[in-house]
Amino acid sequence: MTEPIFHPALALAELPQGRMRCLTLAGREVLICHAREGVFAVDNTCTHALARMDEGRLRGVRLICPLHGASFDVRDGRVLGAPASRPLPSYPVRVVAGMIEVALEGATAAQAGGG
Ligand code: FES
Repeated sequence: MTEPIFHPALALAELPQGRMRCLTLAGREVLICHAREGVFAVDNTCTHALARMDEGRLRGVRLICPLHGASFDVRDGRVLGAPASRPLPSYPVRVVAGMIEVALEGATAAQAGGG
């Protein structure tokens, strides 16, 4: 079994709870969201019509697309509200010594389709 490779993203202290930040990690736009439930990372591109999710809103664990209002659960990327039908890819996150790290190789869902 191969261990996922975690990429340092940003300091936890730079991302207050309730906020989100888009970063490019290994050539991919990743949206890091700090919810009360923890820190989560999902793709920054809406699966409906490619809007940038960092221009939307974060309400608890619900991430709302700025373009047509689809919503996703940042914990696993699943769809909470139409018009999107495919989940956002989500990435494992850990915090080490105050630094948020994201494992891009461990992406779930998305390209497998299913919706
Ligand atoms: S682009 Fe996100 S809901 Fe349409």
